[in-house]
Parts: sequence; structure tokens; C-alpha cells
Amino acid sequence: MHIQTAAVHTLRDFEHGAVVPPVHLASTFELDRATEDGAYAYQRGSNPTRAQLETVLAALDGAEHGFAFASGMAATAASLSTLVVGDEVLLPASVYGGTYRFVDLVLPGRGVTGRFVDDLGALTDEDFTPSTRAVFVETPANPTLRITDLRRIVELAHRHDALVIVDNTFMTPVLQRPLELGVDVVVQSATKYLAGHSDLLAGTITTNDARLAEAFALAQKAQGGVLAPLDSFRLIQAIKTLPLRLERQQANAERIVAHLRTREDVARVHFPGSYSEEEARIHASQASGPGAVLSFELAEGLDRVAFLQALRYPAYAVSLGGVESLICRPATMTHEAMTPEARANAGISDELLRLSAGIEDAADLIADLDQALEAAVL
Ligand SMILES: Cc1ncc(COP(=O)(O)O)c(C=O)c1O
Repeated sequence: MHIQTAAVHTLRDFEHGAVVPPVHLASTFELDRATEDGAYAYQRGSNPTRAQLETVLAALDGAEHGFAFASGMAATAASLSTLVVGDEVLLPASVYGGTYRFVDLVLPGRGVTGRFVDDLGALTDEDFTPSTRAVFVETPANPTLRITDLRRIVELAHRHDALVIVDNTFMTPVLQRPLELGVDVVVQSATKYLAGHSDLLAGTITTNDARLAEAFALAQKAQGGVLAPLDSFRLIQAIKTLPLRLERQQANAERIVAHLRTREDVARVHFPGSYSEEEARIHASQASGPGAVLSFELAEGLDRVAFLQALRYPAYAVSLGGVESLICRPATMTHEAMTPEARANAGISDELLRLSAGIEDAADLIADLDQALEAAVL
């Protein structure tokens, strides 16, 4: 089944012939009075609506197990929950700011060390110590859109008995399916493309590993950061249009990138594969498209604030993946938890702007960017 079909048809045959699944809001479920058995017992452990969503999540990634959390960060935290005192996780320096915050401020209290690596692409056997238990990867990286070779990281990490966890938020299973490349765990902020309308906070994990699946089910039950039934239902519905939305968002982003590259008043445009031919080749070998996020800097002589004030369509807001275009300044917004040095190491300048292309008409978005660039000349 192609992913466009799986997004719509994974769940079928509902009561009364309904063509969309029912929503079960019950927080608790009756058990058999003699055996005390029951398919469901209490909503935090599992519930029919979240279970349906988790079936869809697993189907999209071609995974055995899917898990839905109350946010992308709850999913990221759960993905690292198998690490114990003395363990170390390797991460790229340009990892999502919230992940950086969790690794920097929370993991040390649990005796777990996060080691940030400037360029995961340059990782070698020497970077692994006996304590290295996991490598956490974002490819394309946020907001630099640098690419990491997933097959290479899997080979290296598995040689050292370390897990590979991939944050696939920017790609979604429509464009990149890391489990098929040997990755152990995929996390996503479903708040972004999966939900797609900037109106829902959610996170997901998928894996084929039964032992890890047990740990993630425990994280749901013991820590409780699970997705509620109504939001699970809304996400099931939103996912049906994910392939369609992303196709349009990506086409818009490609047109915007091509246009910005023709303008002398735009200094640098980052897009997956743009860093080097090598990264372009790697990305093409592990993903089926660049996605719909780009980042750029204005040339000298242009005023960033005037540019942003003149922009009509993209909202100046964190997040991405919505049907509406969004623009933000990572240094002060998504990546403000990082120290200035960490940002500099990651290549995130104070002037870098990140644009998430929505589904609007591309010509309207380009005309808007053009008029804002004209208005920004000092
Ligand atoms: C790449 C990436 N991972 C994880 C997250 C965290 O997700 P959430 O905001 O749903 O907790 C975000 C949010 O911006 C993100 O961009």
C-alpha cells in the first residue's frame, strides 16, 4: 500500500458503517469481574482512540510499534528513557533547541551525559566511548538543513552497541523512513506536519524493537505524557491529508528557494542538500524530497526588522509544518536555549531566518517576499 493510501485506509470498518473512527473518551474501562481481564483498563495505559492512532503511526513508518505522546518533547524524552546513570548520548550541535534544553538541563540530573558534536557527518569510531549508548540525529538539521548519512551512523553506532534515534519531524514518513535504513527509533513532533494546521500539540515514536517498545509503553504509563483521545482523533483525521499538504508545501518551498537564489539582497539560502554535493547525494539516497523548510540571511544593507514588518503572509512565529507559512528567527526563538557559542558552532547566526512554506499560492508568497525585501533596504 502506498503511503497516500495508508494515511487514509489503515483504519476501516467502524461500527454502524461510519467512515471515520469513533472517539472513546472514557478514562476507565470495566474489567471482567472474575478474571479481571479487559482490552483496556485505564486511559493513561492505553485507550481505543489512541491505539487507533498508534496503528496509523506504525503503518506510515512501516513499524511494528507506534506510540502517541502529548508533545514532541514528551516523545523525545521517552525516546531517551532507556539511558541510565553513566550513559552518554551523542547529538548534533544544531539539534532542535528544546532537545538541547532537555539534554543540557534534565539529563545530567539523571546521571546521563549529552555530548554535542559539531558535525555528525564527521563521526568516527573514536567518538564512541564505552558509555555511548545512543546517537540522536536530526536530518535535515534544524535550522541549518545540514544532512547526516543515516546508513553510516547506523553502521557506526551499532558497532558500538549504541541506539540510533532519529527526529524525523522535518521529513515525516512521506519523505524519509529511517527504520528502513536500520535506525532503531523514530520520533516526531506531530505538532508540525502530521497535525499540519498549527492547532494541535503531539509527539510520536515508532520502532521495530520489542524491548524498546516495552520501555516506551512504560514511559507512557509511568510518566503519563500521553495524547488525549480527542487530540488522537484529530491527528488521525489530519494525517489523511499529510501527503497532499506536504507535496504542495514542498513545491512552494522549492520555488521560493529558486527565487531567493536569484536575488542579490539575500545572502545565503539553506535547503537540504545545498551545503555540498556530498550532502545532496546523501539526502537523495535516504529521502525522496527536500521538505518545505528553508533558511536564509538577508544581505548586508537590509534591515531584518523592516523586512519582517513588511511581510504580509508568513506569521512571525515558532513552529513549522502548518498550512500557513511561518517565519522565525532561530537564534532568539527556537534555539534561544543554546548558548551563543553553541549556536555559533552549529552555524546558527543571529540573522538567520527560517521559513516554513505553507500551502498558499507560491506566486503570492514570492511576491510578498520580494516586496518585503524592497522595503528592507536601509
Ligand atoms: C525538530 C523538532 N523536534 C521536536 C520538537 C518538539 O516538539 P513539540 O513542540 O511538539 O514538543 C520540535 C518543535 O519545534 C521540532 O522542531
